[in-house]
Amino acid sequence: MKVAITGATGLVGQRLVDRLYKSHELLIFTRSEAKAQKVFPASRYDQLEIVVYQPKVSGAWQQKISGCDAVINLAGAPIAEQRWTDSYKQEILASREMGTAKIVEAIAKAETKPKVLINTSAVGYYGASDTAVFDETSTPGEDFLAEVCKKWETAAEKAKDCGTRVVILRFGIILAKEGGALAKMLMAFNTFVGGPLGTGKQWVSWIHRDDLVSLIEMALTRNDWQGAFNGTAPNPVTMQELSANLGEVISRPSWLPVPGFVLELLLSDGAKVVLEGQKVLPKRTEESGFSFKFPTVKAALIDLLKH
Ligand SMILES: NC(=O)c1ccc[n+]([C@@H]2O[C@H](COP(=O)([O-])OP(=O)(O)OC[C@H]3O[C@@H](n4cnc5c(N)ncnc54)[C@H](OP(=O)(O)O)[C@@H]3O)[C@@H](O)[C@H]2O)c1
Repeated sequence: MKVAITGATGLVGQRLVDRLYKSHELLIFTRSEAKAQKVFPASRYDQLEIVVYQPKVSGAWQQKISGCDAVINLAGAPIAEQRWTDSYKQEILASREMGTAKIVEAIAKAETKPKVLINTSAVGYYGASDTAVFDETSTPGEDFLAEVCKKWETAAEKAKDCGTRVVILRFGIILAKEGGALAKMLMAFNTFVGGPLGTGKQWVSWIHRDDLVSLIEMALTRNDWQGAFNGTAPNPVTMQELSANLGEVISRPSWLPVPGFVLELLLSDGAKVVLEGQKVLPKRTEESGFSFKFPTVKAALIDLLKH
């Protein structure tokens, strides 16, 4: 297949490219050619096509979508890396809603349209709760991240009007050693001050990065898949359980909680992403035939940290 990928230089994208590279023709859409060349050196990835684009602006880049069999849209401004000022919240939203709208515009303009758009969303769609259990049929929440996810999904769904199949994957917290929540927790644990972030009671609906990449791969070819699927492992844990498992796997104490206010100082409202959570089950994902290589957090952490 000829596959266009946005956000390919990120945590998920890099592993996805590694997985698809040998068997597919890939186009990497990036805001920075230099970054893409660094992440995917030509010595190792000589067959990649790098397309420089401005995600929120229509342009010649959109012509590159014509003739692609699939588009995988992963791009978006980082959620938990910096303070949520009003203008940064705007960027979190616009990079996703407008960025996706421009991809769909490109699909609409394309002479030969992609058969499938696989679009990212997140478990933030459901809003935060310590008690509710959510699956793909649950109604959306009302906080900022839920609003972002709703608008992101609505923008993607419009590709259906072009006859393109749309699969929305609601990603959970992605576990990978190289980045995201786990890398941050490891930093704390490796200085012997590890522990749950905040109260520890919040739910963490996580997924091993390799399972997520397998899910994306499956969505490429399963012509019967349409609509939303949760990209979360079947056994979500509380932050307390995640910390205890992490401490055990890397043989470090895990009793010192990181107080919520410290994260709030660093991230302002962005701290909510880790201080609040939701228990999400991949009901439709499993019913549709996807099976997880890493269904428990212990197995995932052992694989990520012991190999
Ligand atoms: N990591 C998680 O735990 C998690 C959980 C739920 C949902 N998600 C979502 O899943 C997607 C992929 O996750 P990830 O962890 O791989 O993300 P990531 O490492 O932050 O990478 C995302 C990519 O998006 C592009 N990007 C960054 N800022 C942008 C902006 N302002 N406008 C447009 N593009 C921008 C970058 O590519 P270029 O610089 O090459 O353009 C970047 O490599 C993201 O949308 C993320 O929000 C992630």
